[in-house]
Amino acid sequence: MNKINNLFKNKVYQKTPIWFLRQAGRHIPEYYSIRSRAKNFIDFCLNEELIVESTKLPLKYYDLDAAIVFSDILMIPWAMNRNVKFTKNVGPTMDPMLPDESKIIKNINIPLLLKPLENSIKTLRRDLPPSVCLIGFSGAPWTLACYMIEGQSSKDFINTRKAVWGSNIWFRELIETLVIYITDKLEIQAKAGADVLMIFDSWSHMIPNNFFKDFAIDPIAKIISLLKSRNINIPVIGFPFKSGGSLIKYSYESNVDCVALDWTVNLSWALESINPSIAIQGNLDPASLIPKHNPFLRENVESILKKMKDRKFIFNVGHGLTPESRIDSVKQVIEIIKEFEI
Ligand code: CP3
Repeated sequence: MNKINNLFKNKVYQKTPIWFLRQAGRHIPEYYSIRSRAKNFIDFCLNEELIVESTKLPLKYYDLDAAIVFSDILMIPWAMNRNVKFTKNVGPTMDPMLPDESKIIKNINIPLLLKPLENSIKTLRRDLPPSVCLIGFSGAPWTLACYMIEGQSSKDFINTRKAVWGSNIWFRELIETLVIYITDKLEIQAKAGADVLMIFDSWSHMIPNNFFKDFAIDPIAKIISLLKSRNINIPVIGFPFKSGGSLIKYSYESNVDCVALDWTVNLSWALESINPSIAIQGNLDPASLIPKHNPFLRENVESILKKMKDRKFIFNVGHGLTPESRIDSVKQVIEIIKEFEI
């Protein structure tokens, strides 16, 4: 059993588990040579050997309690034939979805299309030591809908918000379809051997406040209840990025087992406000790992640990590691945590 699953079971007192969002990416030089063996990023995410190698890559550098399977949240829109492309210096793009198209994306077999993901998880669970928790993931319905409607990232996701405010039947239909596909994707990962699941809602802060429950909370609760009805009972971590005060309602009503906090969240506030029966993950600013010398690093990591000492807590960054993150700084953070807990 690994520390993270133990923490959820609340069995024994233990030291803080550690992993980093986007730990398998571009801040590690070898990532680029693995990536160059695939024709493009989609092929990378469909190549079992490369998925396995990149998932294991950060464990060569760091003493971590989890590995997150290498894939991308946009593999669902890819499987939905949205012509997803990852272009250098542009970011992900796809065909923007029009209102009347919400019907043509039904009946897609996500597990079949994501077979390599399933096979990679089977291999990884066999290869990784039992002390390493294997995390499977998906994007949340709202965030996937944002990319699918805009066709790319956006500063304000105005077309998606317009769809919410218009006669929003087709938008709700799209969210319902995504709930099913996301559940299918999470189910195959759990059945293949993932120990924990994580749902990334990177654009939940774009939801008009009066629709936050409809589009950030209820769809997650639905996914979790569908998973349970399919006998999947492993812990789920939810990450409603930069959602501020709405995190409180999310922590009580989405049914996640852990809420991941971004780096803007005040941890003392979180301790008082977030549902005390669920775990917390977060929330070091990933930018603090970029400077060659950061005089505040130790103090900051220790202050997080002090605040969270009586809480079920997983140490992590409050958003993904950037390509500029320094390997030395990540190592230093892990050392600080281990020293603190001797
Ligand atoms: O290390 C890991 O965590 C492994 C897997 C992982 C990737 N993407 C690989 C990836 C995970 C968990 C994700 C999640 C993801 N993807 C999110 C949610 C987290 C967040 O950052 O908010 C989002 C919004 C995406 C969509 C996405 N994928 C974007 C916007 C981009 C381009 C810009 C960027 O942030 O990198 C990607 C590409 C991508 N996904 C890369 C990696 C390693 C970089 C690809 C490359 O150029 O080599």
